[in-house]
Amino acid sequence: MALRNVVQEGDPILRKHARPVGEVTPHIREILEDMLETMRAEDGVGLAAPQVGILRRMFVAEPDPTLEEKKVYFMVDPEILEREGSQVGTEGCLSVRGYYGVVERPEKIRIRAKDLDGKVRELEFEGFEARVMCHEYDHLDGILYTDKATEVHHVEASEEAGED
Ligand code: NI
Repeated sequence: MALRNVVQEGDPILRKHARPVGEVTPHIREILEDMLETMRAEDGVGLAAPQVGILRRMFVAEPDPTLEEKKVYFMVDPEILEREGSQVGTEGCLSVRGYYGVVERPEKIRIRAKDLDGKVRELEFEGFEARVMCHEYDHLDGILYTDKATEVHHVEASEEAGED
């Protein structure tokens, strides 16, 4: 595994539509493992492929890194099937360093994606997990949370953590 460089806002790659992955090849798995390592190294809870300069529809997420038994999601060619309710909360992004914003997201989603083994799965998420999934999903369509945020604030250096 290797750390990848996280592209920052202003780079046009973050604004493009990513292409479907298709088959989960060993090469794709390697990229996903690198993304997980990079996300953890940067204290993030999610990272989408365009953020490491790869225009493919896939992301990794670990919405609660404090869990003893790690719950890591590899989402390849994800599709949000259902969105329900709404929640308002704060988000950050590893590609928009030093800021956080207030964003409305669905409270609950159902999502279908391939996992690391290429197996198609349907999963449901709610609350913060649903927020993370929607944020990462948006990256695949060139959307940043700052496009949707009602407020964006500068983070104090001391509280700069837990970005996704
Ligand atoms: Ni992000």
